[in-house]
Amino acid sequence: MNRNLYQPINGEIVDIIDESPTIKSFVIVPQGGFSFATGQFVQLTLPGEGEAPFTPSSSPAKPEKMEITIMKAGRVTAMLHSCQKGQKVGIRGPFGMGYPIEDFLGKHVYIVGGGVGLAPIRSLFLTLVDRLEDFKSVVCRFGAKTPADYIYKDTLFGHWRDIKGVDIKLTVDKADDQWKENVGVVTTILSKDDVDINNSVAVVCGPPIMMKFATLKLLESGFRDEQIYLSMEKNMSCGVGKCGHCMLGQYYVCKDGPVFTYDKIKKYPNIWA
Ligand SMILES: Cc1cc2nc3c(=O)[nH]c(=O)nc-3n(C[C@H](O)[C@H](O)[C@H](O)COP(=O)(O)OP(=O)(O)OC[C@H]3O[C@@H](n4cnc5c(N)ncnc54)[C@H](O)[C@@H]3O)c2cc1C
Ligand code: FES
Repeated sequence: MNRNLYQPINGEIVDIIDESPTIKSFVIVPQGGFSFATGQFVQLTLPGEGEAPFTPSSSPAKPEKMEITIMKAGRVTAMLHSCQKGQKVGIRGPFGMGYPIEDFLGKHVYIVGGGVGLAPIRSLFLTLVDRLEDFKSVVCRFGAKTPADYIYKDTLFGHWRDIKGVDIKLTVDKADDQWKENVGVVTTILSKDDVDINNSVAVVCGPPIMMKFATLKLLESGFRDEQIYLSMEKNMSCGVGKCGHCMLGQYYVCKDGPVFTYDKIKKYPNIWA
């Protein structure tokens, strides 16, 4: 690809979906389309306000319409949450390495996620189910604080569960009267009997505390360090390995990640911070 990665391309927000009290999905039409691989991230610019990194939550098979799911965290994300349809945005990237799908071929893909971490996972899920015959199975174990905090409710509680070869279990920390599934943190729905661990990879994405305890549980269940793929978030600026804002030990998260196997990064302090 010859695109100048510092030069945003123009896009327009054509739809906005309220996912949860703090999270919205933005459907963006990038001028001329925007190709990316699942798990790569973009820098989204709100003209005159600033930019922030996000991982598209849509399928890379649909470059003409990209979705980005955004949790309100601070200044730029709050400004994005106050945008209306028709808002012009800039998109830089795509950056980083994303998920190495070829390494997942013929295996069970065991996906553990929570909160806005389901955004990259949704893109990965859509990529996997497009060619489900290439994998043993896709097993999802997701958590949220409460039922209202779940994003992608229509699909998670709907047709994703009917796909043959897909197995989804959900949990919440705190249930309401209607909740019929598990109550407890996400590690309470991880079982070593879910998949043939020797023929599996695990993908973990969510808040740092969840990633830490999910990784420990996966290791305890028999997953090896190199079978566990983690999506790391660090403060970022350039996105292309120049400014050093995102360093994790010897790695630039923006360029060498954001997806790393646990064996590569486990020796560094504060990886869960
Ligand atoms: C590769 C990557 C992919 C991401 N994908 C998504 C996504 O799909 N959806 C989503 O909602 N968020 C995602 N994030 C996090 C998102 O970039 C931050 O929430 C955003 O930059 C906050 O900007 P702000 O101006 O609103 O907040 P600020 O005012 O800058 O900060 C608010 C709080 O968020 C923290 N923060 C700021 N930047 C980051 C950051 N990059 N990572 C972690 N914490 C940060 C600050 O330390 C502070 O505590 C991703 C981050 C990275 C690095
Ligand atoms: S964000 Fe600049 S080096 Fe990674």
